[in-house]
Amino acid sequence: MSEGLRFALTARSEGPITIADYRRSARRALPAMVWAYVDGGAETGLTMADNCAAFDRWTLRSRVLTGNSGTKLDTTVAGTALSLPVFLSPTGMTGLAHWQGERAAARAAEAAGTRAVISTASSYTVEEVAEATADDHFFQLYPWTSRTTGEPLSGKFIDRARTAGYTALFVTVDVPTAGNRIGERKHGMGIPPTLTPGRALSAAVRPRWAYGFLRHQRISARMLVDERGTKAAVASARTQQNLLRPDLVWDDFGRIRDLWPGPVYIKGILDAEDACRAVDLGADGVLVSNHGGRQLDGAPAALDALPAVVDRVGSRVPVFLDGGVRRGTDVVKALALGATAVGIGRPYVYGLAARGQAGVEHVLEIFRQEIVRTLTLMGVDDVADLNRSHVQRAAARP
Ligand code: FNR
Repeated sequence: MSEGLRFALTARSEGPITIADYRRSARRALPAMVWAYVDGGAETGLTMADNCAAFDRWTLRSRVLTGNSGTKLDTTVAGTALSLPVFLSPTGMTGLAHWQGERAAARAAEAAGTRAVISTASSYTVEEVAEATADDHFFQLYPWTSRTTGEPLSGKFIDRARTAGYTALFVTVDVPTAGNRIGERKHGMGIPPTLTPGRALSAAVRPRWAYGFLRHQRISARMLVDERGTKAAVASARTQQNLLRPDLVWDDFGRIRDLWPGPVYIKGILDAEDACRAVDLGADGVLVSNHGGRQLDGAPAALDALPAVVDRVGSRVPVFLDGGVRRGTDVVKALALGATAVGIGRPYVYGLAARGQAGVEHVLEIFRQEIVRTLTLMGVDDVADLNRSHVQRAAARP
């Protein structure tokens, strides 16, 4: 057997070893319409791409002969000890990627010693996820209200999450209106989706996905369906304007904060002034995020926005980041710039699409191993020791 062929066979049998490998597997596993939903960004995708590129604009400090080997990755989020400084950010309609959806993702997070933030628009309800898991997870709230009936959906969602034992609330504030996701529109991704023969074929040639989808029907925003009934939920999700609230103001955030007895984090902050306002109103922490580049195209990369937010509120509350985290080195850079932990969105959805719960577990294991290796090469033992002296702006490339 030639050396080249042997290498090709061995490399293949090892399976995915990076998040980029999982991305490729997910793309193969999903119909084009679902892939557009999972992987797409707003408009030209500028901010989505910059989220990743921003990490390359920093270099890591490397000290030798320290005897350190990256043994401590623990951190605390919402009073919960995590053994990995990476949590699962909320993703809606995760059942589209794999019928096991958020239940599998949350179980995988637990197995990895971390937690999932379950979306208001999740394919499984908060009760179903709670039933499927051993530990308490976190709930993400879209402050939705029916504008036609004034129905206070937020209060209902909050009550359900509290009763189901969720310990922290993440209030997402960067969706006053739907981002212009051109890829999704071109592929007919909507509620309900617009099917064409080509789109149906793209699903039919993926029998594993199609079977899971048809058999379990774990599709859109299950809690919305519970609260409003299928028809009303589909109608409001279709127009979205019945749900989204461009008229929300800071007082509304304050009111929501008061409805939740435990820690409340604000998600979707890019501006230090906004971070400060949220903390003044009782936010227990800030998640710096541009929604993975799915909302305002042209917004700064999450990592670029992080230092100013940390400088402004980091001494009062923990600051988290999500957006573009794809490698262990990315996690370490974000922590060095002041994040307490980081969230991942697409990376775990890739794992889920490719291999269900086992895929998400493996994605988190890849992060763990990469973080340990990075710390060891830097001569750092504990993620808690990371600070700005560990990163430097990369020299401008020609
Ligand atoms: C999201 N995101 C998101 N955020 C949120 O607060 N509620 C939600 O329901 C969703 N839904 C959602 C679906 C999908 C398919 C994606 C990819 C993202 C945003 C998410 O929480 C997070 O901010 C980004 O995904 C982080 O960027 P990366 O890790 O995907 O680059």
